[in-house]
Amino acid sequence: MNTMNLDISLSDEIPADETGRQYYYIEKARLYVQQLSQKLGRPLTFCVTTFGCQMNARDSEKLRGILLEIGYREAPEESADFVIYNTCTVRENANTRVYGRLGQLKPLKKKHPHMMIGLCGCMMQEPEVIEKLKKSYPFVDIIFGTHNIFKFAELIAERFATGRPVIDIWEGTEQIVENLPNQRKYFFKSGVNIMFGCNNFCSYCIVPYVRGRERSRSPQAILDEIRRLADDGVVEIMLLGQNVNSYGKTLDTPVTFAALLAEIEKIDKIRRIRFMTSHPKDLSDELIQVMSRSEKICRHLHLPVQSGSSRILQKMNRHYTKEQYLALVDKIRKAVPGISLTTDIIVGFPGETEEDFQETLDLVRKVQYDSAFTFIYSRRTGTPAAAMEDQVPEEVVKDRFQRLLKEVQDIAAKTCSVHEGTTKEVLVESLSEHDPSMVTGRLSNNLLVHFPGNPDLIGKLIPVHLTECRGFYYLGEQAV
Ligand code: 5AD
Ligand code: SF4
Repeated sequence: MNTMNLDISLSDEIPADETGRQYYYIEKARLYVQQLSQKLGRPLTFCVTTFGCQMNARDSEKLRGILLEIGYREAPEESADFVIYNTCTVRENANTRVYGRLGQLKPLKKKHPHMMIGLCGCMMQEPEVIEKLKKSYPFVDIIFGTHNIFKFAELIAERFATGRPVIDIWEGTEQIVENLPNQRKYFFKSGVNIMFGCNNFCSYCIVPYVRGRERSRSPQAILDEIRRLADDGVVEIMLLGQNVNSYGKTLDTPVTFAALLAEIEKIDKIRRIRFMTSHPKDLSDELIQVMSRSEKICRHLHLPVQSGSSRILQKMNRHYTKEQYLALVDKIRKAVPGISLTTDIIVGFPGETEEDFQETLDLVRKVQYDSAFTFIYSRRTGTPAAAMEDQVPEEVVKDRFQRLLKEVQDIAAKTCSVHEGTTKEVLVESLSEHDPSMVTGRLSNNLLVHFPGNPDLIGKLIPVHLTECRGFYYLGEQAV
């Protein structure tokens, strides 16, 4: 694509505040998009693909919001003029997938010279990745990281103005830019960032290096956003942070996560509150109390344990033992009976022995999780664990992984079925993928339920009789 000359009649002054500045660039990018779509005689289209966690999913909604504002329309990747990958790097296979997809885009771009490719997210914060992209994938148009996602419109305008690839990666930031556009995937539920970054430095984890230090949004900004969402039809919110339990500690006037939840609870139209992720070491008694009294906080807690061996937990820098974790689980179950617990577990951390692994199996049996995400340890360059000796051989890890998966699945099938025969509220999310006469929704504990219904139910909370548990989901009937 060549440079585009624009007769822009925007206000001459670029606003000084960052939000205003970005709206200025949204206007500017919109003019470029108009010009190109006039030339092509059709609207320009985009497709954002998200890899990784809920945090990235929320970031992608911000990217989509900006793109729609600029005048792009959404389309499938095969036909999109602007393809964006919002990447993850928590495990090596996430990176491999992005390179694979990029390889497939190359011939497409050759065929459509005005096509643009954008890359952002955690993977872009790694210097080796940028080097590799420059060398092997020079056809990528826009590259930015996790700290300057708010600059998306500015980077697009720059790409149009210069005709050259734009690479803008920041090492860190203190900045939180409020009130930019975003386009929710669902009209009735939304993620809400409450904090960014992580200060924990678990020894296997790359997140603190790619997402930077912990920064909390002000309670005011969060509450304002949730009130606006509620007025716009949102009934369920998911509060997002790498470690929500340490929310507010670094604010000028510190606020606890529990106090924030209590304020959110007061917003009338919000019916369900979820949050993730909780670090066991920071989960306070105050939070447990707020959860036990709450009408709206969902009966579900995602509490990553990572390993059941206290020796490995120490090497992971997790700051709790197996016994402390189990005591915490007991305390939560007593205060919030019937709460569903889920977790993350890593298999094959350096130095993990069969005995350590048996401790993990034992913990899984004791806790009886509703579900668990199990991961094979992935060596991330730059993390302390990557330099540890005695990395566990692949065959050993694979065998342990299979054994753990079976244990987790057997337990989950049992735990999930306990609600059979009861009537519970379901937030209806969509038409069923398999049967258009059915709808699909979620229980407070996050389990899926399918029941006969029509599209009018989407976004509503409906009492449903849970007739049959099919492993990890329920079949039900609307209760009258
Ligand atoms: N290898 C495997 N799993 C990892 N996780 C984080 N870093 C790694 C790694 N290097 C897992 C943890 C975390 C989840 C989001 O990803 O279990 O809770
Ligand atoms: Fe990674 Fe640990 Fe921070 Fe979670 S708490 S993002 S596992 S360093």
